[in-house]
Amino acid sequence: MPEAESSSTSSPDETFEVARALTNVLHSGDLLVLTGELGVGKTVFAKGIGAGLGVIANIVSPTFTLAREYKTANSGVDFLHIDAYRMNSSALDLPSELETLGIETELERAITLIEWGSGVPELLDVKNAIYVDISLDYAADLDENVKNTDNIGRIINVTGLGERG
Ligand SMILES: Nc1ncnc2c1ncn2[C@@H]1O[C@H](COP(=O)(O)OP(=O)(O)O)[C@@H](O)[C@H]1O
Ligand SMILES: [Mg+2]
Repeated sequence: MPEAESSSTSSPDETFEVARALTNVLHSGDLLVLTGELGVGKTVFAKGIGAGLGVIANIVSPTFTLAREYKTANSGVDFLHIDAYRMNSSALDLPSELETLGIETELERAITLIEWGSGVPELLDVKNAIYVDISLDYAADLDENVKNTDNIGRIINVTGLGERG
């Protein structure tokens, strides 16, 4: 597995597919740490991971719930989707929140994805996380008439795949 993988996408569907393809090399217990500014596509990426793992339910942003756990159809590995956004703006203690929710042990079994996950592996004492950073690719302005970021491509950088074997 190469040390770092970089992809450019020009639509939400392409970002979804990059994530879905990544599930081929994930195993039980993996922790995906997503970073990148608001609206860059972290939740789109999470939906692609869920699809690749065989989650049937619609994956929605867990912004107001901290975490959602999804059963998968056949892989036997559940998908845990965490959004740590509020943790960064409040004194939320993620490890004890996960314990309160009764899902701290799921980290070892499930495939977990944390949006706004910077610093979380250290907090959770996880050594080999997979880091996914998504950024706007201003060099890829797909339609100069569109004035929001929907016309801007995304760069997806994945690191840490090699470390965790
Ligand atoms: N290449 C792209 N990849 C992902 N999302 C894109 C892309 N281009 C435009 N978008 C749009 O950007 C938004 C990303 O939203 P979301 O995934 O909720 O962001 P985040 O979770 O990072 O805040 C969506 O409205 C999506 O349609
Ligand atoms: Mg999100």
